[in-house]
Amino acid sequence: MKIGLLGHGVVGKGVSRICDASEILQIKRILVKDDWELTDPRCTQNVQEILDDPEIDVVVECMGGIEPARSFLMKALQNGKHIVTSNKKMLANCSKELFAEAKKNNVSIHYEATCGGGIPWMASLERILRIDPIDSFRGIFNGTTNYILSRMDEESLEFEPLLKEAQKLGYAEQNPSDDIDGMDVRYKVALSCMKAFKVMPVLEEIPTYGIRYIQKKDLDYAKSQGMTCKLVGRAVNDGKCIQASVMPVFLKKEDVLANVSMNFNAIESDSPTLGKAVFTGQGAGSLPTAHAVVQDIYDIAYNEAMDTVDAAIAPVVNNKEKTFYLRTVNLSLYEAVCKEKIDENTCLTKKITLDELHALIGKNEDKDLFVAEVQE
Ligand code: HSE
Repeated sequence: MKIGLLGHGVVGKGVSRICDASEILQIKRILVKDDWELTDPRCTQNVQEILDDPEIDVVVECMGGIEPARSFLMKALQNGKHIVTSNKKMLANCSKELFAEAKKNNVSIHYEATCGGGIPWMASLERILRIDPIDSFRGIFNGTTNYILSRMDEESLEFEPLLKEAQKLGYAEQNPSDDIDGMDVRYKVALSCMKAFKVMPVLEEIPTYGIRYIQKKDLDYAKSQGMTCKLVGRAVNDGKCIQASVMPVFLKKEDVLANVSMNFNAIESDSPTLGKAVFTGQGAGSLPTAHAVVQDIYDIAYNEAMDTVDAAIAPVVNNKEKTFYLRTVNLSLYEAVCKEKIDENTCLTKKITLDELHALIGKNEDKDLFVAEVQE
């Protein structure tokens, strides 16, 4: 099977390394951006050498970003090539048009590596769905922030140097804002909904909070309550709407997610006959992510069917009452929802819905606050 690889960064290099050790997967051409990347005779800076090559059966995209990845993949589908992508941002934003094009051309789109790095999360969902509908899932979907949070918590280190370490280790996105502001998890939650519920939430409606403004004292407070902080993505299928959110959660130490550290991810599904099942493994990094990409290529080689997704779009509603931890420069703006003041900048809220809190934070234009859900 002949492959055209788009992108030779952290993940792309892992893909070429694994494929080069395979007897049946042959990378014919590799698209690179800069002259200094022309290190292998297969490298090219001309994408047409891949898209127009009738010998190439599969185009594998590890470029990241929406454009030009989207246009290249649309062209690959139109030329009758299967595609494999690790690009969650592009797929979460453009899934409808890409899946429609794939259907028209009778080819498939594989995206295991978009969520959970090396964990076979999408494949596991497909297996569960043969028997059960998925009621809900929740999990740690981002390796960068989990690496930062677990080292901040266990070694009392500061945020900034840990972010730099995560970048050096190849966990973070080119622009790490997507990691630390929760957007990367938003895309992964949306794609997991598409697979698990066959319904795609409106991306902008998913309340999304990250860890950019977390401080050591927030973790100290969680610790004093027998808890730890994790960035959690979650979704519940409510039939007509989806409850979905991305936010830091103070989890009880005995929660299965609380004990997942470093660049590991862990995702828990809940369905009627299987009940709760947890999938864990390295959620970021070159070889684990490349492993998921190459598994997809093998699926194509072995003719493993992928469902053609025609996901309806669903609104997002978060109407369950919960307690939240808030730290902000102007706590008086939250007087109406504050139940217990921890210090002059920090409080625990009374029980309110995330929709109510999200609206209040939006109204206050309070962009620098740190907010976390407190597990019951
Ligand atoms: N930046 C992502 C993470 C890479 O840290 O999880 C894997 O999707």
